[in-house]
Amino acid sequence: MQEVVSKGISHGVYIITVKAKDKINGMTAAWVSQVSLRPLLLMVSIAPARYTHGLIKKSGYFAVNALASDQKDVAKHFGYKSGRKVDKLKDASYFDAKNGSPVLSDALAFVECKVVNIYDVGDHTLFIGEVIDGKILKKDKSPLIFRWEDYF
Ligand SMILES: Cc1cc2nc3c(=O)[nH]c(=O)nc-3n(C[C@H](O)[C@H](O)[C@H](O)COP(=O)(O)O)c2cc1C
Repeated sequence: MQEVVSKGISHGVYIITVKAKDKINGMTAAWVSQVSLRPLLLMVSIAPARYTHGLIKKSGYFAVNALASDQKDVAKHFGYKSGRKVDKLKDASYFDAKNGSPVLSDALAFVECKVVNIYDVGDHTLFIGEVIDGKILKKDKSPLIFRWEDYF
């Protein structure tokens, strides 16, 4: 049934980045969506086991980096290893968003959010974030669309 849901419900591919005190990290996420217009709210769905999960709880902020269609390798780099073991941002080019979340310079666009609600749902946690910063970085590129068979 997971395959049916994955094929039927389309998603982009994103790197969720975070800075909590002296720690920075990023992880790949496909389960990201806008959920409100006024105020402008996004949600990201993150499993509690992810290193990023604890860092967002500590920080209260995160950034969503939208990947472009030619960045599948970036999704794999941030999606198969944990920041507990490796520094995934070591060789990446990034700058700081308004509240310090790292933004990948090569991303299609980024949005930085302040966490306003946290909900436990099934085996994931929904972080609802109010948009505080953002920019389209690559105007001529198109988004990377998630396809289960590309990664798993
Ligand atoms: C294409 C792709 C999409 C993913 N989407 C999600 C997601 O939406 N939520 C989630 O919790 N993990 C997702 N993952 C898994 C995490 O990216 C992966 O477990 C990562 O290593 C966690 O890193 P961290 O421990 O440094 O936070 C995805 C992985 C891939 C490759």
